[in-house]
Amino acid sequence: MNLKDLYIDFFKSKGHKQIPSAPVVPENDPSVLFNTAGMQPLIPYLMGQPHPYGTRLCDYQKCIRTNDLDSVGDTTHHTFFEMLGNWSLGDYFKDESIDWSFEFLTNVLNIPKERLAVTVFAGNDLIPFDSVSYNKWLSLGINKDRIAKTIEDNFWIAGETGPCGSDTEIFYFRSEDEIPKVFDPKDDRWVEIWNNVFMEFLKDDKGNITELPKKNVDTGMGVERTTAILEGVNDNYLSSIWNDVINLISEISGMKYEDNKQSMRIIADHLRTAVFISADNAGIKPSNTDQGYILRRLIRRAIRHAFRLNININSNWEERIARLIINKYKGYYKELEDNEQIVYDILKNEKVKFNKTLEKGIKEFDKIVLKLKDNILNKDLAFKLYDTYGFPIELTQELASEKNIKVDVEGFKEKFKEHQEKSRTSSQGKFKGGLAGNGEIETKYHTATHLLNAALKQVIGPDVHQKGSNITVDRMRFDFSCDHKLTDEEKSKVETLVNQWINDALDVKCVQMKKEDAIKSGAECMFIEKYPDVVTVYSIGNISKELCGGPHVKNTKEIGIFKIKKEEASSAGVRRIKATIE
Ligand code: SER
Repeated sequence: MNLKDLYIDFFKSKGHKQIPSAPVVPENDPSVLFNTAGMQPLIPYLMGQPHPYGTRLCDYQKCIRTNDLDSVGDTTHHTFFEMLGNWSLGDYFKDESIDWSFEFLTNVLNIPKERLAVTVFAGNDLIPFDSVSYNKWLSLGINKDRIAKTIEDNFWIAGETGPCGSDTEIFYFRSEDEIPKVFDPKDDRWVEIWNNVFMEFLKDDKGNITELPKKNVDTGMGVERTTAILEGVNDNYLSSIWNDVINLISEISGMKYEDNKQSMRIIADHLRTAVFISADNAGIKPSNTDQGYILRRLIRRAIRHAFRLNININSNWEERIARLIINKYKGYYKELEDNEQIVYDILKNEKVKFNKTLEKGIKEFDKIVLKLKDNILNKDLAFKLYDTYGFPIELTQELASEKNIKVDVEGFKEKFKEHQEKSRTSSQGKFKGGLAGNGEIETKYHTATHLLNAALKQVIGPDVHQKGSNITVDRMRFDFSCDHKLTDEEKSKVETLVNQWINDALDVKCVQMKKEDAIKSGAECMFIEKYPDVVTVYSIGNISKELCGGPHVKNTKEIGIFKIKKEEASSAGVRRIKATIE
């Protein structure tokens, strides 16, 4: 059995319900491009909303972190990874959480306790020393020399605001050396494998910390790292998660891994992430903005490294690698199977586009470098590589750094802005990370989205269905199926209807029910297969009923005045409305 199955079975035996992995593109959190942690989709529940599955949950969650994208190529960094998690929503707390982590590590994974060490929260002005966790670890036989007390590393929050709390981290001694008696968390032979966060606080945007309605537990364990540890390898890419992918890249390129580690790791990592983004039901395509830009960068960087390994770019190398990845994961993530062809098409189309200019671009780059007087590549040259040869600025930087050349990135960005009608960070704040998406304004927009969906159905017809939604503090964007451009009359009817419902001061109600019952009752939902068996249904008066995780306002009168700002095509058969509330 592999780690994921062992983990889920163990926590099920402790009364946990398995919840499905959320999509990599968050549905109701516009403040981040991707899901970056297992707890992220659970934020509304950590804040107090009842979860349809109860108070003990576990899962494996797809996560994408792109802030370390340039570090990929070493032994441990990945842009995509899976996180194992178990949660208590106001149920058990520190004692059981630590007990079960210890039992899983030592009894199920058979890790000797001598190889383990832990950190606990040392205490500060606001929150006292975590003596409960400290004593628990002692009682389990962890020597006091192996329990370090720290402050910064033992307080966990995703981003700037949201649910948070002190944590206890578990480390494994990953080295052949003799295990030191005293644990030093700064000694990198000790690697963190599991983090148990005791989420009992909420931090707001002013930095105030208040108590959450319930004390929760949120734990996270990285699949890639723990698998490598269990298999006794010091390079994650040599574990069973990656070795077949690396072998295939070796076979395709005819090169040895030992001599080409960096490029092979980048190709393996970036293609795996590109597969998961492309297969996500959000329908992301390579583009110059937001998630699409990340997807483009990943694919283009993988292609550049394939070029370095002399892989024949025109062959179907990328599809062979993607197919292997899909086969490895499709038993766990159904969308990979459902959207398999979409993935191959996205990779191929982007490859064809980039490959037309890649070789010429690299030649151009080499020419530019020869002519440089100082070691700086100016903004005009960087922009030319972007505009004419499709080089994302990060690729130009990477090529330049290999030759010890600096790029005027700031200058490039200015030029880029001048040349783009829309800047790629159109929705401000998206690159900042953090979890600001459940603020007051976003909540109003969220309810307005349900009203808009209902109004469109009344005005255009029952075949209108939601195809996507995105909310920022400045506006909402709503994609829906519709075969024509809306007339001015239709737009104004929709707007009037939404405002009428706002004025009617309708109550917004939330109930939990079985998925079949929800569907039978006519509740609207986007991807039925993605929902658990028990779901949360929000209804607004008797005009809207949707499966949804929230959050929503309590009464429509809180929303304000609704205005449609724009109606345009999104893709074939899909229209897009941008609207604001004042
Ligand atoms: N949220 C914590 C983390 O990401 C534990 O799951 O490490």
